[in-house]
Amino acid sequence: MSEMIRIDKLLCEMQIGSRREIKEYAKKGRIKVNESVVKNTDLKVNPEVDKVFVDNRKIEFARFEYFMMNKPQGVISATKDEKDMTVVDLIKDNLRGDLFPVGRLDKDTEGLMVITNDGEMAHRILSPAKHISKTYFAKIDGVVTEEDVMKFSKGITLLDGTVTKPASLVILKTDGNTSEIEVKIYEGKYHQIKRMFAACGKHVIYLKRLAMGGLMLDDSLKTGEYRRMTDEELKRMTEETGSIHQ
Ligand code: URA
Repeated sequence: MSEMIRIDKLLCEMQIGSRREIKEYAKKGRIKVNESVVKNTDLKVNPEVDKVFVDNRKIEFARFEYFMMNKPQGVISATKDEKDMTVVDLIKDNLRGDLFPVGRLDKDTEGLMVITNDGEMAHRILSPAKHISKTYFAKIDGVVTEEDVMKFSKGITLLDGTVTKPASLVILKTDGNTSEIEVKIYEGKYHQIKRMFAACGKHVIYLKRLAMGGLMLDDSLKTGEYRRMTDEELKRMTEETGSIHQ
């Protein structure tokens, strides 16, 4: 369903300028809606029907944007940071300026990160009530045993006494010194995977998120690469979380 939106709000959201700048552009006759020059920025337009131009350049409108990224190590999952590069800084072809990452990965964790401006969807993905699983691949310093698998399946008591929900742990391979595993958790406590292994006396040396619910990291994305999510992926996410958009 298309909603009417003020022309200055639309242009602001599409990062064309501040409200004040847009008022100036309008005064100078630089803004057109369909065939007409618009001098009054109170005007409401229907972004799905009306064509908006600034200096004769057509402005594309997106109410929501959704990106999937293979987050690299060394980049933080935040919007802005004084010191470090953020996942939002890595996105270059966004239309909107209000993107944020859905949830957190540690600075040294790689893998699936959803970046959007859809707060409602983010909330639903992260809501404990939705039980959206998160699947990780990890390399562990130490030999992961069937006893660890059992402990994970019952829920682990972390070193600070916090108890996690049951998680499924699969040992992929182990060579006597290190192990490769896949683990699925249903919550998102701070440093959860690292702390679960620490509670078993083991250290995570590499961690990568592979999936969030049914949304799988596109394995053609190299670390640091991203792409827009497909309609199919959005539909699946919507079905899983019950999001009202799309
Ligand atoms: N668990 C962790 O320990 N770190 C992450 O980044 C994600 C899950």
